[in-house]
Amino acid sequence: MKDILERLEKKRRQARLGGGAKRIATQHQRGKLTARERIDLLVDEGSFEEFDMFVEHRCTDFGMEKNKVPGDGVVTGHGEINGRPVYVFSQDFTVFGGSLSATHAEKICKIMDMAIKNGVPMIGINDSGGARIQEGVASLGGYAEVFQRNVLASGVIPQISVIMGPCAGGAVYSPAMTDFIFMVEKTSYMFVTGPGVVKTVTQEEVSAEELGGAETHTTKSSVADGAFKNDVEALSEIRRLYDFLPLSNREKPPVRKTADPPGREEKSLDTLVPTSPNKPYDMHEVILKVLDEGDFFEIQAKHARNIITGFGRVAGRTVGVVANQPMVLAGCLDINSSKKGARFVRFCDAFSIPILTFVDVPGFLPGTAQEHGGIIKNGAKLLYAFAEATVPKITVITRKAYGGAYDVMASKHLRGDLNYAWPSAEIAVMGASGAVEIIFRKDKDDKKKIAARTKEYEEKFANPFIAAQLGFIDDVIMPHSTRKRIARGLELLKNKDLKNPWKKHGNIPL
Ligand code: HXC
Repeated sequence: MKDILERLEKKRRQARLGGGAKRIATQHQRGKLTARERIDLLVDEGSFEEFDMFVEHRCTDFGMEKNKVPGDGVVTGHGEINGRPVYVFSQDFTVFGGSLSATHAEKICKIMDMAIKNGVPMIGINDSGGARIQEGVASLGGYAEVFQRNVLASGVIPQISVIMGPCAGGAVYSPAMTDFIFMVEKTSYMFVTGPGVVKTVTQEEVSAEELGGAETHTTKSSVADGAFKNDVEALSEIRRLYDFLPLSNREKPPVRKTADPPGREEKSLDTLVPTSPNKPYDMHEVILKVLDEGDFFEIQAKHARNIITGFGRVAGRTVGVVANQPMVLAGCLDINSSKKGARFVRFCDAFSIPILTFVDVPGFLPGTAQEHGGIIKNGAKLLYAFAEATVPKITVITRKAYGGAYDVMASKHLRGDLNYAWPSAEIAVMGASGAVEIIFRKDKDDKKKIAARTKEYEEKFANPFIAAQLGFIDDVIMPHSTRKRIARGLELLKNKDLKNPWKKHGNIPL
């Protein structure tokens, strides 16, 4: 018995050492933590239980039979984040560059199956040279097994990917199918083909960082939902995000006690919207002042900044915030903001997170770039997402709600449950000068007449009253009472039960 225990301890020590002290030192020199150090920071102290620590690869080519490391380059298991369960895998770059072998994939699949069955989220920490080259197609099969599970888990449990090193080739498609991707600045990159292949095929010279670093993916491509300065910051922020989310589609999001009174009035909101309709203001201010303790976890903060998406709480309840941002492109909807908003709304709807929408939208962005880029189908994504969502939907129009964009932004007609407008709201087919230009074209040279018509149009439509008369707005509320009204609304809607007609699945315009 003693013998066995000694052997067990030896094997554990060997597994914990991964690819050895030298490779661990290299990992640290690069500013990266090891797979195990990362798990230690992600989960509550002492909560992690590891699976398959002694699993070894089965490859016998290229001398691999003599080169085995217990665990085979990935640490898998379960732990807790602030007392709530989570399944985790963390690839170990010190073992064959974290590359994915058949057994490495089997370990990941095992915990994914458990996570799906038990309704517990998955967090994957990626740091890998891709397919285990010595294993060839066996490794490709392993990837596909993981991909299949990502798809089955989608909408059932939240899936979060953290990229903390290389993630290249087909390997990018597992994170791509999870709900959120976060990266670490300067030490992580993602691309389908690396700089070498790019140069051969397209003659473009590009660095790995420029091709697929955190800056690229959080600003240009929108592949990543956020980036952090280093491993420590990334893992602590993932813990913060985790607290907003439910464990699965079978549960409601957690409710957290807060010292922030639900009835708190914010007088400063009464003067936030400038009198001139063309002057911008920062919609972040509205969001931060309405949410509990100003705590907002923004998703895709650096991409399509004309729409703001993210999680917060009101009276302890998680909400998904979607808001036009008048500071960027006057808050109009375009291809990128529609896609960003739609994906976020669908996540919230899949996981019973009420959607809180703040509207200040002058319409869709005009131009050939938008039309040729498919604003019709892309704009439809956001419309589709809001329309299919059955979670509680509370909408507050702070200023402009013009044209088709008025309809799209969780309007009453798309089954908005509570639709409020501030007194500064302007709800109309279009802005006054555009409208007058069209309907009074014959008077276009008579400046006086045009000015009078514009004033008339403004007086008639640049307010919330016509929409309120028609019942499209449930109430015109004072900005300072917005938080109180939302808190009450969430309480009112907490047992909302709405189902869409049965279907295998809809056909969102992709
Ligand atoms: C086996 C690998 C490996 C791999 C790295 N290693 N990648 N072993 N299979 N894919 C090993 C190295 O041999 C080395 O072992 C150790 O990991 C560290 O690698 P280095 O090259 O020394 O590290 P670094 O200089 O940091 O470079 C990291 C890297 C590079 C950029 C990831 O290793 C690299 O380019 N690897 C190959 C990437 C690749 O082409 N993968 C296949 C992609 S195709 P020692 O023993 O020296 O420490 C793919 C298809 C998936 O992934 C398809 C799914 C559908």
